[in-house]
Amino acid sequence: MKTHVSKLKKSKILVTGGAGYIGSHTLVELDLAGYDFVVYDNFCNSSKESLRRVSKLINKNILFENGDIRDSEKLQQLFTKYNIEHVIHFAGLKAVGESVETPIKYYDNNVNGTLVLLDCMKKNNCKKIVFSSSATVYGDPSSTPIEEDFPLNPTNPYGKSKLFIEEILRDVFISDPEFKIVLLRYFNPVGAHVSGTIGEDPSGTPNNLMPFIAQTAVGKREFVSVFGDDYNTHDGTGVRDYIHVVDLAQGHLKAIQIINNITEVLTLNLGTGNGYSVLEMIKAFEKASSKNIPYKIERRREGDIASCFADPSYSFEVLKWKATKTLDEMCKDSWRWQSNNPNGYK
Ligand code: NAD
Ligand code: WQD
Repeated sequence: MKTHVSKLKKSKILVTGGAGYIGSHTLVELDLAGYDFVVYDNFCNSSKESLRRVSKLINKNILFENGDIRDSEKLQQLFTKYNIEHVIHFAGLKAVGESVETPIKYYDNNVNGTLVLLDCMKKNNCKKIVFSSSATVYGDPSSTPIEEDFPLNPTNPYGKSKLFIEEILRDVFISDPEFKIVLLRYFNPVGAHVSGTIGEDPSGTPNNLMPFIAQTAVGKREFVSVFGDDYNTHDGTGVRDYIHVVDLAQGHLKAIQIINNITEVLTLNLGTGNGYSVLEMIKAFEKASSKNIPYKIERRREGDIASCFADPSYSFEVLKWKATKTLDEMCKDSWRWQSNNPNGYK
């Protein structure tokens, strides 16, 4: 009896950008839930070491291909080689400041890259995608907590690239309702796997607060610059919705588990619903690490907003998911990663 070869291949999730911070943590959760995956990454902001560590954690070899999402030939080879049923699309550039300096690079990588990926998916009849969007698409919200139907008004090329991709995905669905599309808007991912073996490894000086605090605690930086203490918040410093990266990773797992049932493009906030100020973050990290963290109040960073946190109730309704890890766990896990790996994966 003849059976088509491709039918014999077990279906896989293609994880673009799977070697990165959120991607690597998601691989662990996918494996725990019994999913097979293949990683596609050009390692422009990550290293193979993260995959080696994930492999050790899950005690399995990881399938990965080194390639760029803008390389349609290479992507086609991947779709030919594997039976890809879903895509979790993390690959992208994410530094806000850099995106203002080099918008063409950002639009090319993020928007063009996603177009090439979608074209390849469609040609190969792969129509399920979970996309990494960002709370940055809301810009400066008129109130908090932020609900998914709030106005969208990103203020920099990075944020706009996320919004453009969301719009492209909505149009793809209109043109072909067989597509199953989940847009996940992350708030502020922090923390690390509890093993302390994988975590966030920013290159150069960190832009984000948590890695900056962690590097100060470990002695790599002298002090934390607090960007403004005159915001209209309870202590004057910026308030954000920090979410543990493992909670975030589990949100992706839930999205994959319900994706077959959706009948429209699903847009979800992935946040905790709690807002913490910069000073509260510094204090919480001091407690978790038993280190003194010096800080200086400096002027506001351009483009920053006072307060941003999610209303996560729709995600809970749809995914039956909510973030469970506490601020103390976020700080303890970040500290374990940072203190065990003061130079990241290097
Ligand atoms: P990351 O930089 O650690 O991971 C992104 C990965 O994508 C990296 O491994 C990088 O090498 C890869 N990549 C980038 N461009 C590529 C390309 N053209 N082809 C192939 N691979 C490419 O970032 P992260 O924090 O894990 O973020 C993952 C996704 O989530 C990104 O799309 C980011 O914009 C989005 N996001 C991140 C945050 C955050 O604060 N970390 C918040 C909201 C949204
Ligand atoms: C958090 C708070 C700062 C650094 C960014 C992107 C967003 C998303 C997540 C991808 C703010 C303050 C920071 C420092 C400080 N990424 N701060 N000293 O700005 O909320 O979001 O990352 O999608 O798009 O814009 O995160 O960690 O940079 O800042 O005082 O050295 O910490 O002013 O109030 P942000 P962040």
